[in-house]
Amino acid sequence: MLFIIAFAVLISFNSIYSLDNGLGKTPQMGWNSWNHFGCSINETIIHATADALIATGLAQAGYTYVNVDDCWASSRDQTTNYIIPDPIGFPSGMASLADYVHSRGLLFGLYSDAGIETCAGRPGSYGYEDIDAQIYAQWKVDYLKYDNCYAGPTNKTIKERYERMRDALNRTGRPIFYSACEWGEMLPAIWFRAIANSWRTTSDISDHWISMLLNIDINDLFANFAAPHGFNDPDMLEVGNGGMTSTEYRTHMSLWSIAKAPLLIGCDVRQLSQETLEILTNSEVIAVNQDSLGIQGQKIRIDLEHDTEVWAGPLADGSKAVLAFNRAHIINQTISVSFPDLGWKSTSRVKVRDLWLHQDLGEFQGNYTAFNIESHGAQLLKMTLITL
Ligand SMILES: *[C@@H]1O[C@H](CO)[C@@H](O)[C@H](O)[C@H]1NC(C)=O
Ligand SMILES: *[C@@H]1O[C@H](CO)[C@@H](O)[C@H](O)[C@H]1NC(C)=O
Ligand SMILES: *[C@@H]1O[C@H](CO)[C@@H](O)[C@H](O)[C@H]1NC(C)=O
Ligand SMILES: *[C@@H]1O[C@H](CO)[C@@H](O)[C@H](O)[C@H]1NC(C)=O
Ligand SMILES: *[C@@H]1O[C@H](CO)[C@@H](O)[C@H](O)[C@H]1NC(C)=O
Repeated sequence: MLFIIAFAVLISFNSIYSLDNGLGKTPQMGWNSWNHFGCSINETIIHATADALIATGLAQAGYTYVNVDDCWASSRDQTTNYIIPDPIGFPSGMASLADYVHSRGLLFGLYSDAGIETCAGRPGSYGYEDIDAQIYAQWKVDYLKYDNCYAGPTNKTIKERYERMRDALNRTGRPIFYSACEWGEMLPAIWFRAIANSWRTTSDISDHWISMLLNIDINDLFANFAAPHGFNDPDMLEVGNGGMTSTEYRTHMSLWSIAKAPLLIGCDVRQLSQETLEILTNSEVIAVNQDSLGIQGQKIRIDLEHDTEVWAGPLADGSKAVLAFNRAHIINQTISVSFPDLGWKSTSRVKVRDLWLHQDLGEFQGNYTAFNIESHGAQLLKMTLITL
């Protein structure tokens, strides 16, 4: 009971001090160029990506932001200080690119940095926050990812540097989603709610099982600080990039969904396998992520002996999203979910649904046991109380 009261206070505290731009009621969904393309991007690729998001049904599934990461800018005009897009990769300019993305019914995002240079050595926004924010608004940018490279020479704190861009974006009068990327250095989850719509809790993800797990494990420590308008960000999806098995990618997607992490696709959507598309577009899995309650699911039981975990979080309709997760290498395992762990009773009757398979598994009393969960696999479930 005490726990429930403390949690309620935290939630209301969280909503009061949110960044007030009206955005990010649920975690952002879209695509970002970095994980697959790195610096090798240009307007042709972004056009084709916007087209592919529509053609594949990804946009329909909710992936609406088209975000260009580092390397779109080349320099700063010596007299006006305006940022200049790379003339080779983006000859039509960013306003034209934003128009193209908008014409497809999608939203357009850009990237900059709270230091003197971006991570790839392009001009940073420190000292030019207003001039950059104004031009983003003029170009009709909807989203800004703001990185943290080359900040040393500014002699300014993270707080001051990220607030400067928050205020500059606000002064444009255009609601622009503000995605902070300071890599979790100063435990941003604890105090970034008033600054940004999402904040990275970790260093960069890479397309490997260990990296994905490390990021979601760290992100889990800050679960109680997530709420509508401000979410923890364990970094973008690697689903479809080839470094994990399909089972692992399905687990990656399950973990990001239950943890209310931003769902930003990081693969080349112009050439998707059917399997990748199915992992990214499962409507019941996405619904967990986009649930209006916006409470981050977290680990509720860790079995160190068998290397299995149960994660859970509440949903707006009173049911729970539950993940039965086999972290172990090689072996299939049986994972039991005890209803008292979910706040119910050992006599409670509960309806269980497999969200990946869109299948009702039946009614259970006291506990539910998932059999034969593959190594690195997980079952994502929805559990609804029938009788306490
Ligand atoms: C700017 O900030 C004020 C005060 O927090 C807020 O009411 C307003 O909606 C913000 N405007 C934009 C465009 O973010
Ligand atoms: C973008 O890159 C692709 C492949 O690397 C190339 O075919 C295309 O011409 C490039 N477009 C521009 C505008 O540079
Ligand atoms: C940062 O601090 C150093 C040493 O105190 C000083 O030399 C430098 O001019 C400062 N830089 C800025 C941008 O204020
Ligand atoms: C699970 O519930 C069943 C009855 O529904 C009971 O027989 C079994 O002992 C329970 N297992 C655990 C691990 O609680
Ligand atoms: C492991 O589980 C998967 C499905 O979850 C099943 O296809 C496979 O046969 C199982 N392997 C063993 C050795 O039981």
